[in-house]
This record gives sequence, C-alpha cells and structure tokens, in this order.
Amino acid sequence: MRKTIRDFQTMKEENQPIAMITAYDAMTAQVAQAADVTGILVGDSLGTVVQGHDTPIPVKLEHIIYHASIVVRLTQTPLVVGDMPFMTYNVSPEQALTNAGMLVQESGVGAVKMEGGEHLAPTIRRVVETGIPVMGHIGLTPQSVHKMGGMRVQGKDLDTARQLLRDAEAVQDAGAFAIVLEGVPAPLGKMITEKLHIPTIGIGAGPHCSGQIQVFHDLFALLDGHIPRHAKQYAPLGKMMREGLAEYVRDVQTGAFPTPENSFTMKADVLSALQTNGADGRAGS
Ligand code: KIV
Repeated sequence: MRKTIRDFQTMKEENQPIAMITAYDAMTAQVAQAADVTGILVGDSLGTVVQGHDTPIPVKLEHIIYHASIVVRLTQTPLVVGDMPFMTYNVSPEQALTNAGMLVQESGVGAVKMEGGEHLAPTIRRVVETGIPVMGHIGLTPQSVHKMGGMRVQGKDLDTARQLLRDAEAVQDAGAFAIVLEGVPAPLGKMITEKLHIPTIGIGAGPHCSGQIQVFHDLFALLDGHIPRHAKQYAPLGKMMREGLAEYVRDVQTGAFPTPENSFTMKADVLSALQTNGADGRAGS
C-alpha cells in the first residue's frame, strides 16, 4: 500500500527516521522502490541533474508532471511528492492552487512541495484547505539562488536563524504535513525539529531531523562536477559507467563485441536455402 502523510506523522511521533530520495524516471523510481524509501520527491533538481541547467529556475510545471507521472506509475509504496517549480505558486494563493491541482490531477502525486517561509503561509493554507497536502521547504531554497547570492548555508547568524525558526512555525501552522530543511547548521536543524510537531526532512541540516532526503545523482556521483558536502557517496556509479562505456567503444572498434554469446543463430537449412536461392526463392537470383 502507498504511504500517506499520516505515515509521516506517525513516524515522527514514534521517532522512526524517514528516508526520502529524489527520483525522476524509470531507473531512479525502480531503485527507490526496491530500497523501500518512505517518500520520493520528484524535485525541481531535475533542472540540474536531468536537464543540465545550473539552477532549477528553468523547470516548468509540465516537466514535473511528465517526470512525476513516470515515478508514480513505477512505484507502489512510497508517498510521491511533486515539486512546484519557480513562479508556479509565488504569484498568489489562487495561482498556487490551480497549479498544485494540475500537478496532483495529471501526475498522480500524493502531495506537493513549495519553497518559502512566513510569507508563503497564506498560500500553503489555501492549498491545504482545498485538500492538497503540502510539504514546506525552508533554509537554502534553490529557487532563490539569486537572492541568496549562491547556494549557501542559511541561518548562521542570529537574525537569520530566528527568522528560520519563525518560518518553520508559520509553515507548520499553515497546515504543511512536513518541512524540508535544506542547508542549515545542524544545531538549528535540531532546534527546529524539536520545536515542530510535524516531521522535518533534512538535506544538509544535520542528523537530528525527523528524516533525510538526498538527490539521487549525488549519492552515486552520476554526473561530473561538484558533489555537495552533505551527500555521502554510496557507490561511484558515474565513474563505473564512464569506464564501462569507454570499454564498450573500444570493444566495438576492435571487434571484441559482439561475441557469439551476444548474437542469434538460425537453422542451417534456412541459411543454406537463403544462400542458394537468394531473396525471392529463385536459384541464381
Ligand atoms: O528539488 C529537489 O530535489 C529538492 C530537494 C533537494 C529537497 O528540493
């Protein structure tokens, strides 16, 4: 049976850590399902890890709908959360409701995620009251990369840490079922987690959150380039794929692939008739 937001709440209350991962396609969805994650986020991180942009800002609602419907179709048990892209919920609560409704209806996700604190509370309230579960997201909010002046840890000084505490409470009070804490100091992650009755899902927010989420590609170094400090590398699959594919290219070029084991045979009499009579069945053709 598929997990729901009630399972998230129960796990928080029973102190059971919640493991989430991002997924975007058949491969990542199948691996996430096999690992029995509690939740999957079809994140707008797809802008960087799937589409190859520097930020998630170019991601459109239709992209999330496309990828989320694949992930929903290929998984059975995790709660699938669809990320609301930049500017699809920031204009007004009504705009957010229309787009959240479209995301849920067209992809089958069980919840949506939005970035923002106190200022987003009326929007979260409107969407939740209409019946769509919302996961909040505060701290390092990648859609505000330009405002933050880069992807930087947030809440390191007193004022911004206090603001994050207020943001977390506002998002909870607006009705969010869980909240992603991204890129905040571990002691602040702990304080926010202890203050809230809804689960916190950390990414670079220390070990005291109610759960953790990571970007799939980071855990396996699938892409060239920077791996964030908060991501542990579980297997160097990117390197293995690059080396494996280079070997394939060499094998094709040298004739070492395909071998008889990779090829199909045909009956000797069929082959012989073909060689003798040609394509139209007449000798000499
Ligand atoms: O888009 C995403 O993948 C996210 C997670 C990193 C929390 O927002």
